[in-house]
Order: sequence, then structure tokens, then C-alpha cells
Amino acid sequence: MKDCWKFATPQYLKSGAGISLTVFEYIKELGVEKVYVVIDPNLAKTNNLAKQILAGFQKTDATIFSDFGTNPTTIQVNNSAEIFKEYKADAIIAIGGGSAIDLAKATILTALNGGIIEDYLSGKKGSRPFIPFIAIPTTCGTGSEASPYAVIADPKQKKKRGIEDYNFLPKLVLLDSKLVESLDKTILAGTAIDALAHVCESFVSKKASDITKSSAKGILVGLTDNIEKATFEKDSEHLFAMLNAAFSSRLLYPRTGLTIAHALSHPLGAYTNIHHGCAVTFFLPESFKANYIYNNSAFDEAFKLLGFDKPDDFYNWFAVFTNKSGISRYIQTHLADKEIPVEKIAHDAMESSNIPSNPKPVAENDLIEVINKSISYWNLK
Ligand SMILES: [Fe+2]
Repeated sequence: MKDCWKFATPQYLKSGAGISLTVFEYIKELGVEKVYVVIDPNLAKTNNLAKQILAGFQKTDATIFSDFGTNPTTIQVNNSAEIFKEYKADAIIAIGGGSAIDLAKATILTALNGGIIEDYLSGKKGSRPFIPFIAIPTTCGTGSEASPYAVIADPKQKKKRGIEDYNFLPKLVLLDSKLVESLDKTILAGTAIDALAHVCESFVSKKASDITKSSAKGILVGLTDNIEKATFEKDSEHLFAMLNAAFSSRLLYPRTGLTIAHALSHPLGAYTNIHHGCAVTFFLPESFKANYIYNNSAFDEAFKLLGFDKPDDFYNWFAVFTNKSGISRYIQTHLADKEIPVEKIAHDAMESSNIPSNPKPVAENDLIEVINKSISYWNLK
């Protein structure tokens, strides 16, 4: 059906400190016997609640998969799908950030429908109904638990590509501040800026409507305060505020699309393996500045809702926050000795579904300018 919105959300959502332990009750309720668990490889090393959850799965019939990194790859997905098929699970649980959740989505799609993940990245569609999928996010940015998309890196083509499938929306999402509090401060900050980017980009998008804008307004108010307190104090109230912001902002952008900040972030991630939230942070200021005159009223309104009277006040806050949280250092350390293939990133970004929704109509040269300005912004060569 053309020219209409598709509404889709996870079926159930529960939130609370320690709520993730209720996953076992839910599995019992579903009558599930064999569970496939995709869990962030570092989580159980640093988080006591995650250790408890893993110990719980050891008492059940479960297969645990943790062999993936910051940007899940086609190879890792195909490996996971093979293990999944052999094991014949009747439910899948993802515990982690966007990488764990996206890998779980891609695993089910490939394992249930056959072939390899590259087929689906090239447009093949799955037809078999999903088994119950439970997502337990442990970062507060990507919002993958609320989205019909999975993004997978293809190392052969050096590209990150997305798949849309409305079966990707989980049956149950559990938002648990206890799983986020052990997250490294810099990564937490990067994921929080990703959530801020989702809501701001959705708000200024060419495809934004009165309905998406009114939802975005509610997320923007108080967001920078929540980002700071969640990052530096890691208290339950503000971690929940960020978990909620990440979830809610991700519901918006299948309706609005995003901007060049996101279009550019994926190829940068594919070429340098930089964390997604930090890749978005890398492009955010110069992308906003390039777009400002094309929709200045929406940008001004978004900045005001965030608590800034002028655009420069927002950029000053952004510079202080990215320094204090360690994102600047992460970007400089991670990218200092890497070649940033400017033309290739611009070329790949033009294929992004976020280009048509960008306020400014852009060509490759415009993107090259934004990439070069971003390189200067972060004092890289
Ligand atoms: Fe993002």
C-alpha cells in the first residue's frame, strides 16, 4: 500500500531494575524448551546481573552465542545461523547493544528461510514466521529492540547494509537499568548521542509530519540533562530515561528517515570498525551545520526543546560533553592511524535510505565536504 504509514512495535514491553531476570518466567509461560541466546561477549565479564542471567540459562536447555564484535559481520551471522539450525531452538533471546540484537535478527531470518545472510542483504525476503524473539538491550542508544531493521557489515564489500523485515520486532522487550550501569562511560555516551541523533534527525527530516514531530518533542525535552546524568552518574532514574528515549526515538524514524549524519556513519563504520554511536557523533555537528539553512525553523525548535537558545549553545554543549565523556579521545585514538577513504564513504552514503529524507538535497560532493569538515572538526588529518 502506498503513501501510508506502517505502525509496528514490539508486542510487549516491561521495564524495571532487575526486570531482565523475569525472562525465565516468560520462557516458561511460552512453553519454550530450547533457547538460543545471543549475548554481548563482554557483558558477562563486567555485569553481575548478566552473570546471573547466564547462570540461569546454564540450568536450562540453551545455546549461547557470543562470537561477534562491535559491528556484526556477514561471516558471524552465517556462523550463528548454522549453529542455530543445528540446535533447532524454539525461541531466541538477544542480550546486548545493537550489535547483539541485529545479529540475532539476522540469525533467525537466515536460519528459518535458508541461504546465507548476503542473500537477504541483496533483497531476498523471508517468508517463514519467526519464533518468539526477546530483546534485552544493554545500551541506551541504538533502539534496535524497537525497529524493523538490522544492519550487518559485509567485510568483502567493506559495506554496512541494512535489512528491513517487520518480523524483526520482538515479542518482548525488557528494559533494565542494571544491565546498562556497567557500560563503559565513553560507549554509554556514544550510544546516548546516537539516541539524540535519532530524535533530532527525525525532527528535521524532510519526511517529518505533525504526528512524528509531536512525539519527538516529548523526547527532546530534558534529553541533554538525561544524557549527562546517565553518563556521569549512572543512576537508575537517568539510565531509564535514556533507555526510554532510545526506544521511543527508534519508533519514529521508520516513519521519517534520518539525515546525512546517519547515511555517512554506516560506511565510516564499515571502513574503520568504529562504534556506531561514535561514528554518528563524528558526523553530527557538520551534518547539522550543512543542513541548517534548509530547515532552520525545525533545527531552532529542536535546539530550544533541548534547552539551547541558539545553535552555538548546542554545539558548545556537544563539544564539552564529547570531551568530558571521552568520545573525542575515542574518535582520535581510533581514527588517528586509519585511512579515512573520503570519496568511497561519500559514494556509499549516497545509497542510504536516509538521503531522500535529508533536509538539503545532496550530491556526492556535498558529502565529501561534510566528511572533510568533520575530519578537521576532530583534528584528524
Ligand atoms: Fe543510529
